Amino acid sequence: MALNYSQPPYLNPVIPFSGKIQGGLQDGLKITVTGTVLYNQGTRFAVNFHSGPSDKDIAFHFNPRFEESGYVVCNTKQNGSWGPEERKMSMPFQKGIPFELSFLVGSCDFKVMVNGSHFVQYSHRVPFHRVDTLSISGAVHLSSISFQPPGMWPANSAPITQTVIHTVHSTPGQMFPNPVTPPMVYPNPSYSLPFFTSIPGGLYPSRSIIVSGTVLPCAQRCGSCVKATASRCPWTVSTCLNTTTA
Ligand code: GAL
Repeated sequence: MALNYSQPPYLNPVIPFSGKIQGGLQDGLKITVTGTVLYNQGTRFAVNFHSGPSDKDIAFHFNPRFEESGYVVCNTKQNGSWGPEERKMSMPFQKGIPFELSFLVGSCDFKVMVNGSHFVQYSHRVPFHRVDTLSISGAVHLSSISFQPPGMWPANSAPITQTVIHTVHSTPGQMFPNPVTPPMVYPNPSYSLPFFTSIPGGLYPSRSIIVSGTVLPCAQRCGSCVKATASRCPWTVSTCLNTTTA
């Protein structure tokens, strides 16, 4: 299966940062910013998705403000003029504490996640495919800006919250002795989809592979596929769960 091209990350970008989003925004693209809010460089920082390199057209301005009890302003600037603000009156960031901030581009909105939890969504006011530049400024130190292309993350959805894959073997009464392969676990809290991995020890009768996770509310179908690529008896098993959406 061909994977979509993934733009290389920006590592340790200097603030103020401005950089290209290769290919522009696309439905399903996820952009993740990691960094730390600084104590003494002001009370705000902003992540801006620009339509073109100028400051006059910003499709999405995400602007945490450490003022009053802390809130986040979302807005759009068109031809130099700000539109009506959407304010979320809570502050998911803490000064001095590292954060992970993700923007998932959907067909209707940006979904913003902070440290893995949904924080806010912002409906598109201008066509998102015009956006080709990202800028970040203010009281923040950045570690990375990374890009996860469509197809590796389900659009219009919350993230998968937990996926654990492990193998189980040695069942009583089995017909074939199992090779000695220790059970193994892939313990990450979430994986990019589609997920690929080799199976240490390969497959053999009675060996089980257990995949646990969460089917997303918007799912129409999900499946798993196990392929033997270097076997005397090449075979493929695929399973597919079909659900309907309202
Ligand atoms: C203004 C502020 C801008 C931008 C805008 C968003 O008051 O000067 O930087 O945050 O609000 O509505």
